[in-house]
Amino acid sequence: MKLAIASDHAGYELKKEVVAYLQSAGIAFTDFGCGPGESVDYVDYGAEAVSRVVSGEFDRAILFCGTGLGMAVVANKFPGIIATPCWDEFTATVSRTHNNSNCLALGGRVLSSEQAIKIVKIWLEKDFEGGRHERRIKKIFALEEELHKSK
Ligand code: RB5
Repeated sequence: MKLAIASDHAGYELKKEVVAYLQSAGIAFTDFGCGPGESVDYVDYGAEAVSRVVSGEFDRAILFCGTGLGMAVVANKFPGIIATPCWDEFTATVSRTHNNSNCLALGGRVLSSEQAIKIVKIWLEKDFEGGRHERRIKKIFALEEELHKSK
């Protein structure tokens, strides 16, 4: 799996912890910033990483900001992206099995590194269940298509 990651300053420290986990687990990723000590707008970094998923260059993205909320909002503006803030093992599980999340959004000001790493492991391992969930996801994308057409 080709993984893109990005953070703003409020997610930077948590990103560092998750990066250490990914490296120790031998999971490849590309970090689209930000770097240490910068105060940046999460919009720019989230958009950069997630646009690479839309283009097909990467399969999924993990984004970090203070809460996970701003990054999820940005990512969900992109076609084909299902960005899910997750805060525990249950939300991590269903974000994949039910929502088919392709973008995980984590909050550096609300999660410990232990919690975040548990979430990342689950999110990377779990598969979409399909079935009734497939029908719902198809409706989301049909809605996206319809709303964009009417502009
Ligand atoms: C930055 O201070 C903070 O607002 C941002 O990281 C994020 O939490 C937004 O949702």
